[in-house]
This record gives sequence, structure tokens and C-alpha cells, in this order.
Amino acid sequence: MRIIEAGYKKVYVGDAEEIARAVADIYAAILKAKPNAVLGFATGSTPLPLYAELVRRVAAGEMSFADVTTFNLDEYVGLEPTHDQSYRYFMDTNLFNHIDVDPARVHVPSGISVDVETLAAYDTAIVAAGGIDMQLLGIGCNGHIGFNEPGTPLDSLTHVVELTQNTREVNARFFASLDEVPTHAATMGIKTVMNARQLVLIATGASKADALYATVKGPVTPEVPASALQIHPCAFIFADEAAAAKL
Ligand code: F6R
Repeated sequence: MRIIEAGYKKVYVGDAEEIARAVADIYAAILKAKPNAVLGFATGSTPLPLYAELVRRVAAGEMSFADVTTFNLDEYVGLEPTHDQSYRYFMDTNLFNHIDVDPARVHVPSGISVDVETLAAYDTAIVAAGGIDMQLLGIGCNGHIGFNEPGTPLDSLTHVVELTQNTREVNARFFASLDEVPTHAATMGIKTVMNARQLVLIATGASKADALYATVKGPVTPEVPASALQIHPCAFIFADEAAAAKL
């Protein structure tokens, strides 16, 4: 992988498979040092090669998630965990069902109970678990992390957001029609994310090039939620050549 120095951060550039192996190595190092680590996971297309690599390593006996606790970033409001486009279903089918994680220690925000108490309880549960050791992030074309759309306060905790038209259109590819894409999501806030001891953001594809440029070379601003990574003490950014093209 080559390294691009971009302001305060380095961006590690390679193809999707190289990124998957490099980030899987980070998980391996964390779990070697702390088998009961608290891991924050993300959904979307971006982490799929990584999840395939983690599944492969667990099957090969190279890694174990038996003692970890997990917290996912977000969930669509209105979708049951069994809905095939819910993020809980995504995680179960792409990762959790294929690794040795204890289902009792898996947490995904509820898309059904989204009252203030339930949302606050998600942050409380993260703190009670000891805080997130490593949070995995994708990035939206508009610079969102989790579902923290542009304009979300940097000090936000877990909350419900109204998805932008852009985000709904981008995600409509997974639904029968745009009308079926939920209008709201429950998401960890930017502060919840920033509280993680380590962040790993992966950006792949040309559609992420402008967002990645703004993330690492623009100002730290709520208008580009991912720009908050510039002020995180331990944030690693991985990109493919297409996403890194404008750096
Ligand atoms: C998913 C999430 C989102 C995605 C982002 C990129 O849990 O929090 O921020 O990471 O929308 O999605 P993909 O990877 O599908 O391009």
C-alpha cells in the first residue's frame, strides 16, 4: 500500500482486497492484546470485503470474536431486525452469523424503539461496556459518518436523523423503489463515534473522492462530519485509488 500524507492524517491507499487484509490485521492486533475488546461495526457496501476476510480468518482458526462486545453505528427507523434491508439483518448475514461472536453481546440500534430513553441507553451501554476500542466507519458521498448528515453537531450522541434526499437516493439501490427507503435512521452521534479509542475509516470508489478530499484537506466542520477525524488522536484512513484520486 502507498501512503499519502494529507494534513494531519496519512491515507493508506491500496485496492479493496489489500485494504480488507490491512484492516483485518488491525482487528487481529486488537484481539491479540484484548480478546474482550469492544468493537464498533458499520454497514454498507464498503466493509463487505473486510467482513469476508474476517469470516475467512475465523473459519481458518486465525481469529476469534468469542469474547468481544459489538456496537453498530446505525439502523433505519421503521425496519424490524428481520427486514432484509435492516442493518441488523445485514450484519447477521454478512458477519455475525459466520463468526463466533456471542449474540448476547451484539448491539445494533433499534429501528423500532426510537424514544429518547432508548437512544440515550445506547450511549449508556457503550460506556458500561468500557467504551469502544475500535470503531469502523464508511463515508457517505456527502461526508456523513454513521448517518450523521452534514450539519449534525460534532457533540451529538445517539439520535434520530432525517436522511437527506441524496442519501436516500444512493441507498435506493438496495430497495425496490425510492419510496421504500426509510426517511429516518437512528445513529450514533459524532461524539459517540469520536469517543472510540481508535477509528478506522474506509473509502472506496470514485463517488467518495470529493468527500474524502473534504475529510482530510478541508476544515473540521459539521458540514463534513467525517472531517472530525482530523482531530481524533488515533484515526486511520484507508482508500482505494479512485477514492484517493483528488488528494
Ligand atoms: C453504515 C453507515 C454509513 C455508510 C456510508 C457508506 O453503517 O454508517 O455511513 O458507511 O453511507 O455506505 P457504502 O459503504 O454503502 O458506500
